[in-house]
Amino acid sequence: MSSKMKEKLLRIERESRYLRKDSDQRKSMEEVFDRATLLAVEELISRKSLGDLFGVVNSGKEARVYYGASQNGEPLAVKIYLTSSAEFKRRMGYIAGDRRFGKLPSNSREAIFLWVRKEFKNLQLAQSAGIRVPTPVAFYRNILVMEYIGEPPGAPATFAETEVDEADYDWTFDTVGTLHRKAKLVHADLSEYNLLKVKEERVLFDMGSAVLTSHPQAEEYLKRDVGNMVRFFRKRGIVKKDTESWLGELTS
Ligand SMILES: Nc1ncnc2c1ncn2[C@@H]1O[C@H](COP(=O)(O)OP(=O)(O)O)[C@@H](O)[C@H]1O
Ligand SMILES: [Mg+2]
Repeated sequence: MSSKMKEKLLRIERESRYLRKDSDQRKSMEEVFDRATLLAVEELISRKSLGDLFGVVNSGKEARVYYGASQNGEPLAVKIYLTSSAEFKRRMGYIAGDRRFGKLPSNSREAIFLWVRKEFKNLQLAQSAGIRVPTPVAFYRNILVMEYIGEPPGAPATFAETEVDEADYDWTFDTVGTLHRKAKLVHADLSEYNLLKVKEERVLFDMGSAVLTSHPQAEEYLKRDVGNMVRFFRKRGIVKKDTESWLGELTS
């Protein structure tokens, strides 16, 4: 990697420390740009899947999302998974039952690479079914590159942070239904934090956990997803149908 790029990533890294809320996250955060990740960024640049990386948009326990740009200057979101994350065990269940992925990964790095590939494929499947998701651009190792939703460098508002109305309710269950029926997928981590509302556009995202409907736990995940959304909308005063009737309708 050019030393200029490396310097820049390390500067982003330093600056983003000020954004941290949780000091427990400190250690793993400092390890985001380990040597292997720097090389992976470089590989994406040499493949022309990525042009530049700027600052952090948002950071969670397992991944950090950066604002970047394509080689034509189009804004991109770059999600980098922490290879040091201890979420390996939890992740396995969402991989094991999925017939798209044959051999199980034997260590946590491999599991993360597979997770990223799965997230990319899930975004493609959802998009082919006509669902609004960030367009997947590329993936390599622990890095997923996708369309930037909203106006960079700000983080787009999730349903949790905006007002929601009946149209959002209808869109949500319509989307869950289309995902199930057409894409043959269950999101499996659906909540108000994984739905975006930007201007009048609504976007489903964070699809790494999504499983095929043939997964042995697919029904259980669907029930949890639907339950989360029914509960969220009820808190916001929007009640139409309960979880049971939604499940009946979605799976019939
Ligand atoms: N495509 C995107 N465009 C813009 N911001 C994004 C995009 N994807 C993720 N983000 C930002 O990063 C945050 C975390 O992304 P998410 O995929 O939910 O990661 P996690 O697996 O950590 O929950 C989002 O809430 C949003 O602020
Ligand atoms: Mg999320």
